[in-house]
Amino acid sequence: MNHGPTIFLGVLLTFASAWLGLVFAPYSQLNKLKPAASDTGGDVYPKPLSGLAAKGRAIYQSNGCTYCHTQQIRPEGFGVDIDRGWGPRRSVPRDYLYDNPHLLGSMRTGPDLFNIGSRQPSSNWHHLHLYDPQVVSPGSTMPRFRFLYETRKIVGAKSRKALDTPPDWNVPAGYEIVPTEDALALVAYLKALDHTTPLPEAE
Ligand code: HEC
Repeated sequence: MNHGPTIFLGVLLTFASAWLGLVFAPYSQLNKLKPAASDTGGDVYPKPLSGLAAKGRAIYQSNGCTYCHTQQIRPEGFGVDIDRGWGPRRSVPRDYLYDNPHLLGSMRTGPDLFNIGSRQPSSNWHHLHLYDPQVVSPGSTMPRFRFLYETRKIVGAKSRKALDTPPDWNVPAGYEIVPTEDALALVAYLKALDHTTPLPEAE
């Protein structure tokens, strides 16, 4: 007996239902999503990233931060993300309107970073952490991103951008550690990661 047409129909139905469920249905539900106007008449949410933060996003991508960090907060009942203090509310599709390609991530070797900008607003902390994670976070398994910094001789006055290093770092006298443009952009991006704005769809 020739089963060709039955197999063909079965395969077609499988792919068509996957496409309907995973592409067409979400698209028709969400394609009209727009930034939300704030109740208090303030800014709309979300906003596209500023120039420096947008550059930092590319550095985040190219350094593989997504291999260890997610950017998604699960709702209460699905996980303990909110109890861990990773955000005041779950993440919703509107949060990702300008996130292209999205950096949801799938592995949590390190904490979720969706709201790291509000959790850790200090630029100096981020720089020290990227330079040597173990110093600000003892026992950390995060790799160092030291190549994003330059140790250079102080010529004249200390640079305004130089890291405020703890005394036990033993930076040689007359030297300073300065972030490169890439490090400045990356930290601008991390500080822009703040999705704490309340939204009607995520109480
Ligand atoms: C091999 C896995 C790994 C990679 C790659 C990695 N991290 Fe981490 N990260 C961790 C771990 C583990 C921690 C928790 C310990 C700590 O604070 O250092 C962490 C913590 C952090 C924190 C502090 C989070 C908090 O809640 O305090 C920030 C910010 C961060 N990482 C940023 C980055 C950035 C930016 C990159 C890419 C340049 C990156 N990480 C790459 C593993 C990783």
